[in-house]
Amino acid sequence: MKTAITGGAGFIGSHLVEHLLAAGDTVTVLDDLSTGRLENLRTVIGHRDFHFVEGTILDRAAVDKVVAGADRVFHLAAAVGVNLIVEHPLESLRTNIHGTEVVLDAVLESGATLLLASTSEIYGKNTSDSLSEESDRILGSALKSRWTYAAAKGIDEAFAHAYWRQFGLPVAIVRLFNTVGPRQTGRYGMVVPRLVKQALAGEPLTVYGDGHQTRCFSYVGDIVPAITKISEEKSAYGNAYNLGGSYEISILTLAERIVELLGSGSPITLVPYEQAYAEGYEDMRRRVPNNGKAKDLVGFDPKTTLDQIILNVAADHRPVKAPDPLGWKVTMAAN
Ligand SMILES: NC(=O)c1ccc[n+]([C@@H]2O[C@H](COP(=O)([O-])OP(=O)(O)OC[C@H]3O[C@@H](n4cnc5c(N)ncnc54)[C@H](O)[C@@H]3O)[C@@H](O)[C@H]2O)c1
Repeated sequence: MKTAITGGAGFIGSHLVEHLLAAGDTVTVLDDLSTGRLENLRTVIGHRDFHFVEGTILDRAAVDKVVAGADRVFHLAAAVGVNLIVEHPLESLRTNIHGTEVVLDAVLESGATLLLASTSEIYGKNTSDSLSEESDRILGSALKSRWTYAAAKGIDEAFAHAYWRQFGLPVAIVRLFNTVGPRQTGRYGMVVPRLVKQALAGEPLTVYGDGHQTRCFSYVGDIVPAITKISEEKSAYGNAYNLGGSYEISILTLAERIVELLGSGSPITLVPYEQAYAEGYEDMRRRVPNNGKAKDLVGFDPKTTLDQIILNVAADHRPVKAPDPLGWKVTMAAN
């Protein structure tokens, strides 16, 4: 199968590239390397069936170039991470709204199928026990940059759904909940790599707020096969699917677990939100997915434990790298 991936040099995208190449796909990536890195693609650069185009999804010609001839497209390119969104609200909005519209148009014209990466952030402050795809979205003020990521991804979903309804575009949506694993960077506000890095360096682990906010973390090695399978299901078109971890943990307990597992002597420090972010920052107290719809469709049942996730992330941050824990060994073939 011929596959195009926007954002394929990023954390999730690079694992998806390896997974699909190992399955025999020809893969073309479009990435502007804003948060992604070529280093993430080191195992596949030079592969006969891998092609990389440096460019932005805001450029219709660049998108056309990678989408041409593709059977399916995964749209992962986005401005991601709370820090990045708060610091660059305008660029983030343009990438996440206009960029997606460009991709939708190009894919419609090309005749490929599309998988759109959305986020659990769209549920906002809804703290229900089990967020289903039909759950309400509860967002803060439109004037707070913090909510623009959720707002933009919500618009993306609405765009995708309208393209499906009005033009019959075969597009499926996945809503990812805190996905973690090797290659994720802590630079843009992702909590697990940031805390792991601090623990390994013997620095204080900085937990924002009172630390009692909870999340359900999932492993990229469980998420990538699930989004691949969803992209292959015709009944997924026009639908959205939650994909998240099944174990709820507070950020304070997560920090304690990281310190213990990594044998770190680091203390844990609570940092008020006003200090960590701009004034008026709001966080979600809780975010728990109901994965039932993805389980029914593709048997989604994430198996990697939080301890294993932490150990794999830690291995990725050590100066001498352990073998890749994901095991999608891409067989290199001569060009
Ligand atoms: N990691 C998570 O926990 C998580 C959770 C929910 C949703 N998602 C979604 O999954 C997707 C991938 O996220 P990730 O965690 O791998 O983040 P990432 O930042 O590692 O990946 C995003 C990639 O998109 C690229 N990109 C950004 N703007 C671009 C542009 N204008 N043109 C071309 N490429 C551009 C970046 O360089 C990067 O390689 C995103 O759509 C994100 O919203 C991720």
